[in-house]
Amino acid sequence: MSSDQRFFDFLKERIGLDVASVGPAIIERAVRQRSIAQQAPSTDHYWQTLQGSQDEQQALIEAVIVPETWFFRYPESFATLAKLALSRLAELKGMRALRILSLPCSTGEEPYSIAMALFDAGLAPHQFKVDGFDVSPLSVERARQAVYGKNSFRGQHSDFRERHFIAEDERYRLSERVREQVRLQVGNLLDPTLLANEPPYDFVFCRNLLIYFDQPTQRQVFEVLKRLTHVDGVLFIGPAEGSLLGRLGMRSIGIAQSFAFSRHNEPEPAPAFVPSALPVRQPVRSIAPPVRNRPFSSAVANPSPAPTKPVSDATTLLASIAALANEGKSAEARMACEHYLDTHEPVAQVFYWLGLLSDVAGSALEAQGFYRKALYLDPQHAEALAHLAALLASQGDVAGARRLQERAARSGRAADSERKS
Ligand SMILES: C[S@@+](CC[C@H](N)C(=O)[O-])C[C@H]1O[C@@H](n2cnc3c(N)ncnc32)[C@H](O)[C@@H]1O
Repeated sequence: MSSDQRFFDFLKERIGLDVASVGPAIIERAVRQRSIAQQAPSTDHYWQTLQGSQDEQQALIEAVIVPETWFFRYPESFATLAKLALSRLAELKGMRALRILSLPCSTGEEPYSIAMALFDAGLAPHQFKVDGFDVSPLSVERARQAVYGKNSFRGQHSDFRERHFIAEDERYRLSERVREQVRLQVGNLLDPTLLANEPPYDFVFCRNLLIYFDQPTQRQVFEVLKRLTHVDGVLFIGPAEGSLLGRLGMRSIGIAQSFAFSRHNEPEPAPAFVPSALPVRQPVRSIAPPVRNRPFSSAVANPSPAPTKPVSDATTLLASIAALANEGKSAEARMACEHYLDTHEPVAQVFYWLGLLSDVAGSALEAQGFYRKALYLDPQHAEALAHLAALLASQGDVAGARRLQERAARSGRAADSERKS
């Protein structure tokens, strides 16, 4: 099937998805899957079916969305939230509960992490409420069920699992206490009536959605997010989504790896690892890479976080790099990468990390070199492909970005279909 602009336009209008952010191959594949499911003899027939059926429109949306999420993703942001929540409560002097929004909430890991972080910080149930919205009814339904498999627990520290979950066979059921703090609903960030009459939120999480929008849509959505964030509130975004906020009068609060912005127009501090250093990117990633390729995650239990200790075992050292990056210790993470390259055979993952660290620090050229090295060693390294594509696109090299996106789409196909099945 050749590229069909009708479907791109439909998805852009309905959920804001910019074809350039994910590459046409992903959308074409979804259209193909849905055409087969509908037994449509041609693309035109499928288009007609789509026009006449709300259910089919939703099914196509479900086929293209990326519900990728896990508990305590970017852990530093939850530590920051807990600290800020305590001081905000003190300011409010018991006048009302804290209001927190997670949009998009996907399958619930983010809003539930917020509730767990606040309970663990000592807040009582009446002191906060979390609202979670997502455009995908399927994801919201999974979030409501609140039963999770191993893939939702990817961080180094899973002690929260012992505190807040009950093991059931191979899965984990979230406690009622946490579930009761979170209200989950279907909602589209592009819907002008969404939360129109609600008071603003003290904390808003809008992470890993804006990367799929083009710049005009990002601008439009940031205005909505600004409206939804209390004048004394804080907006948490994804690592690659920061640069527009500065232009809209929001400032990084300067806590490394938290990706948090306030509405106050204070001069911006210069922390080591803030998202505002990144250029606006459209294409970042759309596919679920294999677990081994995820940044800052590690399958190894209890890795040593200290780079100064002599670490001979490659797996442990790789886990230690992930731990350092996760904790926002970018200088130490970089040193650990260099130590790894001094003492082991080079591997793509280490160059990918160096790329990511350079990227977030604003050294685009250096990042590009590292991503290319990662791809030399592992031509299918999904995240290196996606991040390099984003970098090239931000520099105007649309054709180069497109080639990499297509490569990423091909290499991610297996993981993608597994996730959606
Ligand atoms: C990658 S997940 C992000 C989940 C979570 N915020 C995180 O960072 O882990 C992206 C989610 O955005 C949702 N989404 C896509 N377009 C949306 C829209 N226009 N409004 C609300 N949610 C949307 C998708 O359904 C998907 O669950």
